[in-house]
Amino acid sequence: MSWLDALLRWFDEHGRKYFWRFSNDWYVTIVAEIMLVRTRATTVERVLKDFLARFPTPRDLCNASDEDVVPFFKRLGLIKRSSWVRKIVCTILEKYGGSIPCSEEDLEELPGIGRYLKNVILTKLCSIPRPFVDTNVLRVLSRYLGRDLDVDSAERWLSENVPPNLLYKTNLALMDVGAVLCLPREPRCSSCPLRDWCRYAEQCS
Ligand code: ADE
Repeated sequence: MSWLDALLRWFDEHGRKYFWRFSNDWYVTIVAEIMLVRTRATTVERVLKDFLARFPTPRDLCNASDEDVVPFFKRLGLIKRSSWVRKIVCTILEKYGGSIPCSEEDLEELPGIGRYLKNVILTKLCSIPRPFVDTNVLRVLSRYLGRDLDVDSAERWLSENVPPNLLYKTNLALMDVGAVLCLPREPRCSSCPLRDWCRYAEQCS
């Protein structure tokens, strides 16, 4: 079995089943990812459900005011994101008629968009698979390869070592390994699906 087979098998059984992962709706995807930046996914799960009940469609959010949105982001401790999320969603509605633009240039012009969110959108909503590297993915891959990677080299490694059609699932799997096993301190190497190939696991009890 290859490292990738082992990882994806583990993910099928143990991957976190957050509802936004099963949605191909651009609105749900974008709001979820903005809420997830530096915030625990279990907290986002609760707040996002309430948010979508209050603002079920992009139009509902756009017709609201920043003040209507603030209480949700207060629960995440991220008040500044209230206007950010409205700006992105309203731009997609008003400039692109409510369809997500799939060109890199258009995506880069969306307010506040970074490389991570752009790559998630391309992969999930535009069927253009790209690696999206957060701190969990970076830590897992750095340990796995036994060298400190930066985002550029991690993206390159993933593009070169994972078939495009498996990139989305592999990315989520690495995120989850980082969140539940490959912890910053006291990683649980003995339970890790990557332990047979991982440089770090060689000296991890
Ligand atoms: N699923 C999709 N994006 C995620 C993220 N940023 N964190 C945790 N789970 C996710």
